[in-house]
Amino acid sequence: MKIGNVELKNNIFLAPMAGVTDMPFRILCKEQECGLVYTEMVSAKGMHYDDDKSNKLTLMHEKERPGAVQIFGSDPKIMAEVAEKLNKSDAAIIDINMGCPAPKITKNGEGSALMKNPELVAEIIKSVVSASQKPVTVKIRKGWDDSTINAIEIARIAEKNGARAIAVHGRTREQYYSGKADWDIIRQVKEAVSIPVIGNGDVTGPKEAQKLLEETRCDAIMVGRGAQGNPWIFKKIVKFLEDGTIISDPSPKEKIETIIRHMDMLIDLKGEKTGILEMRSHIAWYIKGMRDAAYTKQKIFQMKGKEEIITLLRSFLMRQ
Ligand SMILES: Cc1cc2nc3c(=O)[nH]c(=O)nc-3n(C[C@H](O)[C@H](O)[C@H](O)COP(=O)(O)O)c2cc1C
Repeated sequence: MKIGNVELKNNIFLAPMAGVTDMPFRILCKEQECGLVYTEMVSAKGMHYDDDKSNKLTLMHEKERPGAVQIFGSDPKIMAEVAEKLNKSDAAIIDINMGCPAPKITKNGEGSALMKNPELVAEIIKSVVSASQKPVTVKIRKGWDDSTINAIEIARIAEKNGARAIAVHGRTREQYYSGKADWDIIRQVKEAVSIPVIGNGDVTGPKEAQKLLEETRCDAIMVGRGAQGNPWIFKKIVKFLEDGTIISDPSPKEKIETIIRHMDMLIDLKGEKTGILEMRSHIAWYIKGMRDAAYTKQKIFQMKGKEEIITLLRSFLMRQ
């Protein structure tokens, strides 16, 4: 599988998720055979003003490469300036966010609100493509709402203006993350363009992955919520698609060890205070469904130190 000139190990990708796809998590997903990881969305305006937090979000560890940095914004000039800045980064691919439904983003005409403005979409993609030395991709939704479904039109615009792949989340902005993703729109986009199409929405295991690939003929798939606390999902999907084998779930011990590694890497990257704060929701996802998970989660959400969390996790492990 190739996007532009970037060769990827396979076609099962980790979807960009703000607050989820931090660098340590991306490394863990890559260890589990994920074909391509995306950063959390990064504000182009933030990078334009040289905001430290935004700049740091674009960092790519050698263990996760090749990876994609996702940017969001609505000003073609600023987007191009940021793409040029990213020419010096370790990102292999630049992805443009046209799917975020959050009001704080859409009220500025950014994220999924761009789908309401096809002319601006064309302008943004064109300027980013001409400024970037790396392949540019775009991530869209089905449309803004049920009365304005235009994923096909936007995909054609993306292709025409030089995008090298397009990811389609089969929900409208109005749906946010609820209801079932419409995979048929992914099939329709695939039929309409020649660049690779990445299907997205509701893949939570190997069988759905296979179904999405078969039903839509898309070139790759992107896993979002199904990967939260579950980096193992990638190897599971890859192996199943290879030879039909279902790999068993990780043991409780492996899960706890992975949590501790994730936490250590996050603390190294962001310091103990922020690392622990950000780790809390990851831990809740990792332990979901295990015995005593609710009680343990509640305790962890009150903890501020790494050592006390590890002690609690070890006693939690004994009870499994
Ligand atoms: C917590 C969370 C954060 C997200 N952040 C982003 C983001 O930064 N950029 C983006 O393009 N999509 C974002 N998404 C959307 C996902 O990439 C994906 O399109 C969506 O979750 C549907 O896929 P799924 O059904 O596999 O979860 C986010 C989704 C969730 C749940």
